[in-house]
This record gives sequence, structure tokens and C-alpha cells, in this order.
Amino acid sequence: VEEQFNEKHRPQFHFTPPSNWMNDPNGMVYHDGEYHLFYQYHPDGNTWGPMHWGHAISEDLVSWEHFPIALFPDEHGTIFSGSAVVDHQNSSGLGTVDNPPLVAIFTYHDAEGEKAGKNDFQTQGIAFSLDKGRTWEKYEANPVLPNPEIMDFRDPKVMWHEESSRWVMSLAVKDKISFYTSPNLIDWIYQSDFNPTWAAYGGVWECPDLFPLKTVEGEEKWVLLVSINPGGPNGGSATQYFVGDFDGEVFKSETTAIKWIDYGADNYAGVTWSDIPEEDGRRLFIGWMSNWLYAQEVPTETWRSAMTLPRSLELIKLGNDFNLASKPIAELKKLRNKSMVVSGESINLDSDLLELELASLGDDFEMVFSNDEGDKLLIKKLGDEISFNRSQSGLVDFSDQFPALHRIPLFGIDVKDIRVFLDRSSIEIFINDGESVITELIFPKSAYTALSLKGMDSKVKIHHLKSIWGN
Ligand code: FRU
Repeated sequence: VEEQFNEKHRPQFHFTPPSNWMNDPNGMVYHDGEYHLFYQYHPDGNTWGPMHWGHAISEDLVSWEHFPIALFPDEHGTIFSGSAVVDHQNSSGLGTVDNPPLVAIFTYHDAEGEKAGKNDFQTQGIAFSLDKGRTWEKYEANPVLPNPEIMDFRDPKVMWHEESSRWVMSLAVKDKISFYTSPNLIDWIYQSDFNPTWAAYGGVWECPDLFPLKTVEGEEKWVLLVSINPGGPNGGSATQYFVGDFDGEVFKSETTAIKWIDYGADNYAGVTWSDIPEEDGRRLFIGWMSNWLYAQEVPTETWRSAMTLPRSLELIKLGNDFNLASKPIAELKKLRNKSMVVSGESINLDSDLLELELASLGDDFEMVFSNDEGDKLLIKKLGDEISFNRSQSGLVDFSDQFPALHRIPLFGIDVKDIRVFLDRSSIEIFINDGESVITELIFPKSAYTALSLKGMDSKVKIHHLKSIWGN
């Protein structure tokens, strides 16, 4: 057991870097039985700094093995967010058909250029691996997509578009998403922009992701995720989404209202895995479990930031409207250690790693987590809204922006079942199997020891969860 994974507040079943600063998940790709997770990483400090791609691999998305840094800054700049794909047909020529290259497509951020007052300091580069993602080589003629004099020009998410047999890149360009296409991941052609007037524009657009998804009835639509910072529904960073059609060149949204993938304050820059086998069929998502409002001030020192639990995104059609649900992936059941059913309006909690299954009685309810230190986390449903109050939940005064009361609109959904995952410094609440999600950081001074319930079924299923670090 590595001592370093047992610090106070260190998440025990969420991904965290061994040490130092992490932000966005990057380059998620499934290849040869392995889920790769790269991440924005500053190896020399616990706040944001010159970006690298950290790397971890999992065989089940539950436990992770840490790998050496995959991408280091070079003469073109530091390495910002991006994606990775398996180039099955070796369209890039960077591997062979027998050993198709893994290709990472990322943003170069030229900090010197920025300081010198240039506008074209963000460009897109690529790198490839021929050894299952263990080592990476930068493409010799980077950058592959130069900058047209627009300061915010970043976060390429690339997918293979079957119908037109070519690659499609979604790119965040200030406050719009631009689509580019390529036959070979090297030569890119601009196709179109997406920026409907009614979308959320509180801040700059970042980290797009475009992918097809089917409803359970079998209707296929295209989903576009767009992270924005600031301007989220509960302040700061958040991820909006659009559901519509994509013809290989242009994305048109059919949804015409602002929708957020998560109404909690701490799920940002999330995107989905490339190359999940068709037999699996899921659209797997992970987000950065923090918010730029206070990410660099949270009370941890050796490491900073965690990822959300992995989720499977599902498309739900209601009348003519489409919504995205986020379900905790089934693999998470492996974390369950000891399970029991308890009942009562006040329940003792005897572990700091818990999954709770609760049911509402169909009307308003209240859940309060507390401990002997006077910490209290209040979650209340009143009418068509849930209020989430972490203002006395534990350590909160490291930032003025942290101790807030957050509001989660329910849009008429009837809250039936609730699944709660409680780790040492986070809570994730999945309502009706992910129809509504609240992901939030909390820093209780010591573990919560009691849960009091009002307006809820008094029978609660409690699962003690295992630590993925062996603690
Ligand atoms: C999102 C973001 C991205 C950028 C990266 C830099 O959190 O700002 O747009 O590529 O972080 O670390």
C-alpha cells in the first residue's frame, strides 16, 4: 500500500494522480483490452502550470494503474486537452495495418507566443504510439492544424465518421464549435461552425465531443457536449449538451433549450471514450471533478483533483425532446464489499466509502449527512427543485466560491430512486438511474457518521465500498 494514496481527503474509488495537479481527462481510448486515460497534468506543482499528459490504464474502469507521463511540452508549446483514436486502417501512415497506431490529437499552447502578444498561440498537433500507448512519438511535421489568428482554438476531439469514411474533429473556437475533416489525421479541412443564439455563452467554449447515440427505441441522434467556463448553472464551469443531427459536415441541434449534463458544481471538461467495441455499445464518459472557481484552492496538498466516476451516457426521448442520462457504470458494483439493508429515520454510517440506495416517497424529502464535528450536508427536494447546501459540509472557507447553496431543477421528473456514492471528498447523486445527476466536492472534517432522512422510504441499502488503492 502506497502511503501517498491514503492522505486525508484522498478519494479512494475515484481516479486521482499520484501527486500534483490534474485537470481535464484527455485521450480516452479503448485498445486491446485496455482503457486509457490521459489527463492534463502539471508534474511540478499542485496548481495549474505547464501542461503535460499524465497517463493511467485500467482493464475495468474501476481500478487504475499509473503510467509515466505520455506527452511532454516541446518547441511548439505545452500540451493542452485533446483526444486519441485507434487508426485501424493506418490512414496516417504512422504505423502499419498489422499494428495500427494509436494517435493522440491535442492542442499545443505556446505560452511564449501568448506573452509576446500573438493571437495564434494555440495549434493542433499529433503524436502516435505503436506499443499499446506505452511510449509516444510526436509527428515530425507538427502542428497539423495551424491557427487562423483566433486566441481560443483548442481541445480537438476526433472520431471516425463511417458514412463519409473520414475523420471528423470538433474543436472549441472561442464561443463556437468548429468541425474539420481529414482523410489521414494530418491534413484538415474546415467544414462548419456551430453556435446557436440560444445556447449558454457565459464563458469560453471548451472540450467538445460529438458522437452518435441511440435511444432504447433504436432512434439514432448525434450528441454534442460543450464545456463552458464560466457560466454553469451553479456558477463557474459546467458542461452543456445538444442533441440533433450531423451529416459529416454540419451539426444541427434539435433541442432548443440549454441542457446540462450534470447540475452539480463539479463535473467539467468531460468527454467520452473512443473505440469502445460495438458489442459493448456504451458511450462511456468521465469528467474532471472540480470547478475552475476554486479547483486550485481545495484543501489537498500532495495531489489536486479527481475524476468523476465513469458513467454510461444514455439518450432518452420524452415527447419530441431528447435528454441525456448519466448512469454509473455496472462495473462499479465490483467495489461493493459488505451490503446491508437498514431502516430508520436516522442511520449510522460506519464507513467513509459508501454507496447508498434510497427511494423517495413520491413527494418532498430531506437528507442530512452529519458528524460530531458539526459538519452538515443538506440535500432537500422541494417541489420541482433539489437544493444542495454544502455551506456547512466541512472545510469550506478555502474559497468564497465554495460554500454555496446549489439549485438543481427537476423539470417535472418524479424522483423515485436515488443512488449516492460517497467518497472521502465527493458525493455523486444519481436520480432515477441518472436522469438527473448532482456531482459535488465536499471536505468533511471527519467522515460523516449519520444520515437523517425525512420523506423517504425508511429502508436504505448500504454498500461499503473498497478502496482501489488497497487502503
Ligand atoms: C479546460 C481547459 C481546456 C484546456 C485545458 C488546459 O479545463 O481550459 O480548454 O485545453 O483546460 O489545461
